[in-house]
Amino acid sequence: MSDLWLSTLKTATPQEGYELAIKLSRMGIKYTQPSDEVRQKLRDDYANNADSLTAVSQVVATNFQTVAAANNYWNE
Ligand code: HEM
Repeated sequence: MSDLWLSTLKTATPQEGYELAIKLSRMGIKYTQPSDEVRQKLRDDYANNADSLTAVSQVVATNFQTVAAANNYWNE
């Protein structure tokens, strides 16, 4: 995957930062499983499983910590 998709961790608002955290999390999955077809096949499983969704939100929360720190918690 050579396309540049992450040029900065800086975001204007915390909400944009959270969206970046989701992007980072999804890209982690994409690097790990590059096949669109396989990801599509597994989508239904995790989307309908409470434990999977809890695990997903935990990954997002971890990435959000990094993004928030990189933005000084949006305190100027
Ligand atoms: C869709 C997040 C893990 C496959 C989505 C969507 C979100 C998301 C927000 C909805 C996109 C939309 O409808 O606009 C995440 C996060 C993950 C994760 C944060 C892990 C930390 C996975 C895994 C798979 C997967 C493990 C399968 C291996 C898909 C597929 C779609 C989807 C196929 C539907 C197609 C698409 O909208 O791009 N995911 N996901 N995701 N996810 Fe995940």
